[in-house]
Amino acid sequence: PRFAVVVPAAGVGKRMKSACPKQYLKIADKTVLEHTVDRLLKHPLIDKVIIALGQHDEYFNSTSLPQNKHVETVLGGQERVDSVLAGLHKLAELNFEWAIVHDAARPCVSVEDINQLIKRCLSAKQGGLLAYQAKDTIKRASSTQEVESTVDRSVLWHALTPQMYQTTLLINAIEQGLKQNYVITDESSAIEFIEQPSLLVEGASDNIKITRPEDLALATFILSNQQTMKQE
Ligand code: CTP
Ligand code: MG
Repeated sequence: PRFAVVVPAAGVGKRMKSACPKQYLKIADKTVLEHTVDRLLKHPLIDKVIIALGQHDEYFNSTSLPQNKHVETVLGGQERVDSVLAGLHKLAELNFEWAIVHDAARPCVSVEDINQLIKRCLSAKQGGLLAYQAKDTIKRASSTQEVESTVDRSVLWHALTPQMYQTTLLINAIEQGLKQNYVITDESSAIEFIEQPSLLVEGASDNIKITRPEDLALATFILSNQQTMKQE
């Protein structure tokens, strides 16, 4: 099968504190969003990217993306989940059985990790997400910010994107969750709400989400490092 990816890119990037939204900051010769879309379209089975844009987006039209015939846009919403849902409705219209969702702010995702996620979900006939195991010792805090206890790290994973689910299942999960005011921070949490299973597919921890100012330099380093590794 062929796959389409919904890319939520309608955020304002409050924590980044930059003049323009972080998805439009430049790394080398391209914006973060262009890097992200390039990575996704490098996967041989992905031929459509549906980008959810902010209502007052002033930057998208100055990128190369409007000219890309694999790219479509939809109007995003107030929260990430609203932007994702808008993209999912478009994806459903286009009759894709599976929906893949990937943050605009994660340009360092590897094609190999995307491939692992797709392979594992297809063979298990089950949705899932990329994630990596917690490596630090994790503490539970009390209300006075003192240590209450050490949490069992072996069962803790960091959720990444992409996340991949059957399109109608995911749309139903999100719509039900929203109706009941359930907080949906990622696709997996919507699937948890309807008590359906999700696979944790181990991915690389360098698939960072650019969130704070220092992350831009980190992403620049990771991207150039991945480039050199490829050439060796
Ligand atoms: N996103 C979106 N629509 C929103 C909010 C977020 O499409 N209403 C997107 C962002 O553009 C980003 C991804 O969801 O690609 C992950 O969200 P996050 O890292 O939180 O980005 P922002 O919300 O832009 O940043 P902040 O929370 O710091 O304001
Ligand atoms: Mg946010």
